[in-house]
Formats: sequence, C-alpha cells, structure tokens
Amino acid sequence: AQSLRALAQRHGLYIGTAVDMDALADPADPRYRELAGSEFSTVTAENAMKWESLEPTRGTYNWAPADQLVDFARQHGQRVRGHVLVWHNQLPAWLTEGVTDGSIDKAELRRILRDHITAVVRHFKGRIWQWDVVNEAVSDPWDTPSTLHYKGFWAENLGPGYIADAFRWARAADPKALLFYNDYNIEAFGSGNPADDKTQFVYEMARDLRARGVPIDGVGSQGHLGTQYGNYDTLQVAAALRRFAGLGLATAFTEVDVRSQLTAGVQAGDSAEINPRLQASAANFSTLLRACLAERHCLSFTLWGFTDRHSWVPDWFENPPEGLATAYDENYRPKRAYQEMKADL
Ligand code: XIL
Repeated sequence: AQSLRALAQRHGLYIGTAVDMDALADPADPRYRELAGSEFSTVTAENAMKWESLEPTRGTYNWAPADQLVDFARQHGQRVRGHVLVWHNQLPAWLTEGVTDGSIDKAELRRILRDHITAVVRHFKGRIWQWDVVNEAVSDPWDTPSTLHYKGFWAENLGPGYIADAFRWARAADPKALLFYNDYNIEAFGSGNPADDKTQFVYEMARDLRARGVPIDGVGSQGHLGTQYGNYDTLQVAAALRRFAGLGLATAFTEVDVRSQLTAGVQAGDSAEINPRLQASAANFSTLLRACLAERHCLSFTLWGFTDRHSWVPDWFENPPEGLATAYDENYRPKRAYQEMKADL
C-alpha cells in the first residue's frame, strides 16, 4: 500500500506530523519511528523547539532533542516545520518570573526576545522550511474582554508591536525560511459562527503586516477540531485559506487532530469502525485536507501526532475526558480517518 507521503507528493503537498521526541527515542516502541519516517514528508517538534525546552536555564541552550529531530528529517528526506519562536505558553520560569518580580524590565524583555529568535533561527539556519514565528497571539470570543484583541504575555508586556519585530528578527537570521503566523479557530470563513470574526481579525493583522512590509510569508491554521462541534464545510475552509492567499501568503494546516468526548457511548480504544459515532472525526480530517488540496498555496498538512498512543488530547482535555483524536489507534492500526485521507489524496 502507498504511504500518505507518496500520495501527497503527486499533488505537490507535504504531509506531516508533530513528533514526540521521547516516543521517537523509545526502543520499546519501534513502530512510532517507522511510521513517522515512512508516512510523512514533513515533521515538526511537538515540544522540543519551545522556549522552555531550548533554554530551561537562562543562557544555557539544550539543542540535543531538537537537533535529533532535524537529523531524523534529513535521514528520511523530510522537511521541517519549526515550532515555535514566540508564544505565551511553555516559556521558561526564569523568564516569566523575572518579569513578575521586576528583575526583567520591558527594554530587557524586548532584547531577550530578539536574542532568542536570533539564536534559535541561526542555530537551525538552512534546515527549517517553515517557522511558526508567532503563535496564538489573538484572543477568542470567550476571553475577557470578548472583543477580539492581542492577548497573552508578549502583548501584555511589550504591546502588539512585538509581532512585526519578531518577523523582522526571524527574517534577518535566516532569509530563506518561510515565516508563518499560526493560530486556531481560523479554519473557516463564512460559517456564521464566531470563528469568522477571529479569521477576519487575523486576516486584517496579516494584511496590515504585509502593507507595512513586514516579512510574513504564510498563515498556519492549526486545525484542532472536536466532533462535538460538528463539521465545517469544505468550501468555508477553502474560503478562509483563499482569503489569506489573496494577501500573497502561503497557507498550511499545522496541527490537525479531531478529538471526541469519551462519554455517552464513546470509550478509549473505540474507532469509527466499531463506533459509528466517531465517523465525524474522520469526516473532519477529510474536510480540512480537501480544502487544502483545492488551494494551490496550501503547502503542507501536518497532523498533531499520528497515533492515539501519543496524543496531547487525553492530557489536556480531562473534564469531560476527550481522546481518539488521531489517525491511528493506540496499537498503530490505521483508523477510518487515515483511510479517508488516503482516499482524498
Ligand atoms: C501542546 C503539546 O502537544 C503538549 O505536549 C504540550 O504539553 C502542550 O502543548 N497549540 C500549539 C501546540 O501551538 O504547541 C500545543 O502543543 C497544542 C496547541
């Protein structure tokens, strides 16, 4: 049988997965490494390139796990999505505590950010295809205030100007890497739900950055969906991608998974084959993939993990418990989502 990557290649599409470095290195779990290498043409670090992983102690960088991923990619003929340079989560404690206790002032914080971006992008120079430069900078309708705004640690401490700065610093450090803004709830446009407003906000942000000559090359749509929210329409997903493309930007799906609540007749280990209620999961993977295939500027389609054996969902969505979010079950049997993606390719 053909791999996802072989099928995607015929469309010029890169198909990817986030990689958990512990699982990749586990000799007792060889199937993880095999599938990560054989089914995908691009990889991204699930955690290894985040600030708290790279610089747990101020001034001391721990490059080894991230370097191992980049080496793995080279051995397997894969491109790398770098994730992530600027985000409000998974920051090292020395940084957040330094700001809280006042030992790091705003001018120093801006220098620290510049130096971090420069050090990381330079370290991987020439080996990263797309960088997620800024991640999740925009609020959601359920945040306070509900009016969409720039949220989180960086906007609060530096103001929204950090976004343009970050792209400029990244470009200077590796002029050939494609620089992305990455976010969730921007997967569709025209559905009439609140995600339309966030998509529009990000669109206006990107338009403004482009108009000012800020070096942004693409917008990444994460694609963390849940079956409890129903299914988007392929045309609405394509419409969101096309709006960004209209600004001269590339697009990508960067973190696709489709979780389900493990309540009311859905339990760990179920798949769409044995529990028809999970067919919505497969359908959502297919919706996003078909929209990406329909838009030439959609460069890559990355899954946020490929097996229920190693997925962030059960750890993060506990009340009610959620899971079953990936394309392979816990024993590496391909699920219906996998078959549907193959059929789409
Ligand atoms: C998640 C990882 O999957 C987890 O292992 C980690 O504990 C928390 O972060 N949006 C992002 C990703 O941009 O970096 C997040 O990854 C999932 C949500």
